[in-house]
Amino acid sequence: MPAAYKIHEHTFDMVVVGAGGAGLRATFGLAQKGLRTACITKVFPTRSHTVAAQGGVAAALANMGEDDWRYHFFDTVKGSDWLGDQDAIEYMCKEAIPAIVELEHYGVPFSRTEDGRIYQRPFGGMTTRFGEGPPAQRTCAAADRTGHAILHTLYQQSLAHDAQFFIEFFALDLIMDAEGACRGVLALELATGELHLFKAQGTVLATGGYGRAYFSATSAHTCTGDGGGMALRAGLALQDMEFVQFHPTGIYGAGCLITEGVRGEGGILRNSNGERFMERYAPSVKDLAPRDMVSRAMTIEIREGRGVGEHKDHILLDLTHLGPEVIHEKLPGIAESARIFAGVDVEKQPIPVLPTVHYNMGGIPTNYHGEVVQLKNGNPDEVVPGLYAIGEAACVSVHGANRLGSNSLLDLVVFGRAVANRAAETIKPNGKQAKLASDACDAALARLDKLRNANGGTPTAAIRDRMQRTMQADAAVFRTGETLADGVRKIREIHASFADVRVSDRSLVWNSDLVETYELANLLGQALATIVSAENRTESRGAHAREDYPERDDVNWLKHTLCWVDEAGNTRIDYRPVHMYTLTNDVDVIPPKKRVY
Ligand code: FUM
Repeated sequence: MPAAYKIHEHTFDMVVVGAGGAGLRATFGLAQKGLRTACITKVFPTRSHTVAAQGGVAAALANMGEDDWRYHFFDTVKGSDWLGDQDAIEYMCKEAIPAIVELEHYGVPFSRTEDGRIYQRPFGGMTTRFGEGPPAQRTCAAADRTGHAILHTLYQQSLAHDAQFFIEFFALDLIMDAEGACRGVLALELATGELHLFKAQGTVLATGGYGRAYFSATSAHTCTGDGGGMALRAGLALQDMEFVQFHPTGIYGAGCLITEGVRGEGGILRNSNGERFMERYAPSVKDLAPRDMVSRAMTIEIREGRGVGEHKDHILLDLTHLGPEVIHEKLPGIAESARIFAGVDVEKQPIPVLPTVHYNMGGIPTNYHGEVVQLKNGNPDEVVPGLYAIGEAACVSVHGANRLGSNSLLDLVVFGRAVANRAAETIKPNGKQAKLASDACDAALARLDKLRNANGGTPTAAIRDRMQRTMQADAAVFRTGETLADGVRKIREIHASFADVRVSDRSLVWNSDLVETYELANLLGQALATIVSAENRTESRGAHAREDYPERDDVNWLKHTLCWVDEAGNTRIDYRPVHMYTLTNDVDVIPPKKRVY
């Protein structure tokens, strides 16, 4: 029986966990629809990781040349290496246009063309005429600080609506009932150490990715996959966790993002011979190939001895030819980052870069309404009542095996909006909620009590460091059966070592030691799901490149992986079919073919 903890109870129609782009778009959308909405967030909203997004948000507005949302649909399906669900991709690419116009009206300060339209730049894998035409200028940008511009605008909109914010509240666990429905979430108020139970008709997980399972990531240190961790503990499966995106241009050493927008504006990757090597790997789109391909090409260049620097272990991104005007107007943020983190003046010197973990294509499986789905009694699309997931925490799946750059900010706003629309259709404002069982919070409280008093021999940071280094080495850009088997063995052992974790701070007030331990537990479950799913998938597809299985195998592997991980570290794998159908006749299904650029 857990020690007695006083719990403040709140009742809302909807509770959103997370205040990044997806969480905020959902929060004010729900409030706008008349639903009593709470948003709980572990950081101040404008500090959420969306603030770091640079290059832009995709939508076929055709402001700067020929474009059509159907081309965007084609590119996204091909970019996903055919693992994306085509109904959801149709929804996202079509809805992109009204969703971005709406953002403009909300006040996002997009960069402008001479005639006052939203400025759009080319991004990797974005083409025209179903891949046959020239690159599309589809990525709407606010210089190279698009995420910052969008996040601040969304927070302003949230304040303009009647949503209630609970800031610096850390979500501990989902509250599920005996029928498997989600009834809310238990959270810790960081400043006071008090517990809060948020009861709601719907709970939306908008908690972001788990990039910090790796040693070097462009993700903020707060990206610890808290929603995915809570979903695993609630007995739910995560989907397609083997697909981890490496962004080609993280600053060598520091890992900070240098936007793909640099290559969109004409920047070039060069090896130690000064060669524009992408011409050999992707002759038509060159440096603007999708990220999985560019990251592999860079890794091959380094392996074959054409890397740069003392250890020949990185690549150069050259923008010296762009000129000060383009750099000042379009890329001011990366000029500053390069100066601070690489000591480079981008007008005169190239930036040292290396593929760096950037995005999780996998996550909590949902349909295109943002409702969480699970495989149950043979139904692969069974909705979990009361539970939604959006943004990087979710796997809709619109990105499949490889996300195209600038489809992430889009995913946030489109599906944040979709959840609000869905809830407005299905949830009655102020609707009656059945009483919770008296022991509804017991498991979550027992866990809190256990972690708070954890008195083992291994500090949280030591376990985290081992996990991050192992993931970096063994679940990398290229994988083999051998490295993965070794990685699975090590991550299982590291997961088990959590039983020996030591939390030194016994208080509940601003206990960052305890919060980091919760975050580590969330990361460990997802690290294990990632590496186990990667070992299991014996083919190469998108970001999952197996050297021992170099080809895509549609006969055996055109399916989503589902992975369950229990608290003891036992794993189970099953599958869901990929949706090879569209929502309407506005667009045709794109059948799988060889993915060349
Ligand atoms: O390169 C970038 O600006 C990142 C964009 C994205 O991940 O969508």
